[in-house]
Amino acid sequence: MRLPQGSWCTTVALMTTQNTIAVLGLGRMGGAMAARLASRGYDVVGWTRSGRRAPGAVRGAGKAHEAVARADVVLLALFDGPACQEVLDDVHGSLRTDTVVVNTSTIGPAEAARLARQFGPSYVHAPVLGSVPAVAAGALRILAAANPGALARARPVLEALGTVRDAADAATAAALKLIANNGLAGAVLALRDALRQADALGLPRDRTLDILELGGLGGLVARKRPFLLGGAPAVPAEFTIGALGKDMALLADASNTPLRSATGVADEAVDPEADIAAAATVPAAGEAVLAPLRAYVRGHATGDPAHFRAAFLPSAHVEGVRDGAFVSWSLDEYCALFPGRPAPDEPHRSRRVDAIDVHGSVATATMTLTHGTDTFTDVFLLVHTAHDGWRIANKAYHRHT
Ligand SMILES: NC(=O)c1ccc[n+]([C@@H]2O[C@H](COP(=O)([O-])OP(=O)(O)OC[C@H]3O[C@@H](n4cnc5c(N)ncnc54)[C@H](OP(=O)(O)O)[C@@H]3O)[C@@H](O)[C@H]2O)c1
Repeated sequence: MRLPQGSWCTTVALMTTQNTIAVLGLGRMGGAMAARLASRGYDVVGWTRSGRRAPGAVRGAGKAHEAVARADVVLLALFDGPACQEVLDDVHGSLRTDTVVVNTSTIGPAEAARLARQFGPSYVHAPVLGSVPAVAAGALRILAAANPGALARARPVLEALGTVRDAADAATAAALKLIANNGLAGAVLALRDALRQADALGLPRDRTLDILELGGLGGLVARKRPFLLGGAPAVPAEFTIGALGKDMALLADASNTPLRSATGVADEAVDPEADIAAAATVPAAGEAVLAPLRAYVRGHATGDPAHFRAAFLPSAHVEGVRDGAFVSWSLDEYCALFPGRPAPDEPHRSRRVDAIDVHGSVATATMTLTHGTDTFTDVFLLVHTAHDGWRIANKAYHRHT
């Protein structure tokens, strides 16, 4: 029998019957949540696809539908939306009519809204802020969205894991969780920039981390120091690059708005199973991809077009607006602009590479050139071919006067 929601009867039900919890997904978060709830006196039965067992006094179930059959609360800690959909479709027929489904997984807003519609008033969308140590300490921050009755029934379980903040609906809770993780991804990328700059300056890593720990990235650096010192970390990953990359892709898809971290954290040089801190230790772009940009700088410094021919692919074009008119030069036309000797004010000119993003065999780069009273922003598209190595495929520029 389903009890009237939000009533005194509900409170009695909480105290007397709501004590068997099925945790579906015993990965990093699910395993820690199952152990935490068992340590708080709940009867916990755990299931995970791989058959792995949770630590502590957690009973194991061979099949997901066996785990949920007697559960008052079914708690999901699965990787992504498709995994949630698959597992919930599998157990749907085995759920008791009064079971509350609490989904702590980080999934997209549309995925969360679909599950909320499918499971109706018994579905609580409850993505969490905080990682494995926060679960163990009962210090998660939980964004919970559900109808009041379901939330009241789930609340004691959620409060055993952390503090609960109500969200308007499942899609909002999912979206807010992605925004929170965007802050984390931004911090990881800022830390990557800081470590690359420190490496380029020859600063020792441990001294750099000491100083970074005093600033805005201090919390992240303090938590992730074992992963940032280089070498194989002695501790297992708490939150993986693959999971954060998944979240940034979900955010970019949901917002339909460009998001640098959607490709930034999921660098192909790092193992997606590594901790997110490993994404901060990816070295700066190698000399090979910088070589055509350095040749381009030499072209400007000397006025010798041979350097441009080494920098660009023969098919390259240079495009921009000059004296109010759009220009599109072939490489030959561009080279013809240079007299073969340095500009008279060359000692006062400067050039720097501001950004470079490498994606396998293609890259983009931005450079600032200060030539007298003119500053140019050059945007490059680079391609790596087996025959030529890295070369500039095209350039577009803007002249700030
Ligand atoms: N780790 C964190 O710090 C953290 C913090 C906040 C939120 N989250 C979010 O919490 C969720 C779980 O994260 P996690 O770090 O615990 O991930 P995880 O260690 O990779 O565990 C993922 C779980 O999902 C299961 N799974 C994956 N695909 C499945 C499928 N198709 N069908 C059934 N089960 C499937 C895995 O099963 P098997 O491994 O048994 O095959 C495992 O139990 C994710 O949505 C993540 O974004 C993580």
